[in-house]
Amino acid sequence: MKNLEITSREAVVKLNKVKSKEEFENLRIHYFGRKKGILTQLASKLPNLSDKEKRKWGPKFNQLKQDLSSLFEKKEKSLLLIEEKHKDKKKVLHDNLPFDPTVPGRKLAVGHIHPLTQIIDEVKDIFHYLGFSWVDGPEVETDEYNFQKLLIHKDHPSRDVQQTYYINDELLLRTHTSPMQIRYMEKHSPPIRIISPGRAYRRDMPDATHLPDFLQIEGLLIDEKTALTDLLGVLDFFVKRLFGPKSKVRFYGHNFPYTEPSVEVEVYHKKRGWIEILGSGMVHPDVLRNGGIDPEKYIGWAFGMGPDRLAMLRYGIDDIRLLYSGDLRFLEQF
Ligand code: DAH
Repeated sequence: MKNLEITSREAVVKLNKVKSKEEFENLRIHYFGRKKGILTQLASKLPNLSDKEKRKWGPKFNQLKQDLSSLFEKKEKSLLLIEEKHKDKKKVLHDNLPFDPTVPGRKLAVGHIHPLTQIIDEVKDIFHYLGFSWVDGPEVETDEYNFQKLLIHKDHPSRDVQQTYYINDELLLRTHTSPMQIRYMEKHSPPIRIISPGRAYRRDMPDATHLPDFLQIEGLLIDEKTALTDLLGVLDFFVKRLFGPKSKVRFYGHNFPYTEPSVEVEVYHKKRGWIEILGSGMVHPDVLRNGGIDPEKYIGWAFGMGPDRLAMLRYGIDDIRLLYSGDLRFLEQF
């Protein structure tokens, strides 16, 4: 009982240091706890005192208990107030800051260029570098431009090879991009250097290397002086630019009605051996004539390549249908 005053002072000092609800609660239990609280223990000693002592310490104890209780109450209120303020502050902060730089951003799905378009763009770049320009042409053609002017007459066997989608007797879906040669010659005079990429159609059953619609890039050069060696040199340069300086190319004789002589080009693929990528040749004098160009004065060469094949070779794809599937699991690899 004699320490009553010390106990009281200690309690006040400790209470002043309290900063959180938790600390407050621990201190409250330390003094007012129902079983082991210091004040509870003191109170349990009072009944054992003599009457004289009771009269001396009883009121002192009661006063102390009251004082401490009201101090604790005040402290609790002030802690609550601080907490409220804090909450408000947080809210205000949040309301004034619509952009929170700590929140992880949302990921945007970013697309990219289709592998076939990538290849066509590269082919374009290589031929632009060599002075060729780019022209577009119609996919619906006449029999005349698609076949006859290219010396593929009605009974010509190559009509079997290029099974055709006819719209009527005259109109068809072009089976290759070669009719662009005639269309361009008719409207322009030499020197001519063009490439003409686009879609072509044939009645083929879809399989790993064929589709009824596919891409082609036609090339045509006409000038007063040029030769087969220029064609071969340009194609060699092209292949090495596209597939790397160490790639292997081979040329061999072929037969197209619209070129004389005709050449096919193959590129070596590590796993699949030689793969044909294009047909080409010196433009037949009658084709020049059909385009309104004098074969006595001008000479030309042409080629037609399949970008699908180029993409398959470049990326090691073994089924052409994958290129047109739109399957993201496939496309995201390029
Ligand atoms: N038109 C041919 C084809 O579709 C490719 C071709 C061969 C184009 C020779 C040409 C050429 O310009 O000279 O298979």
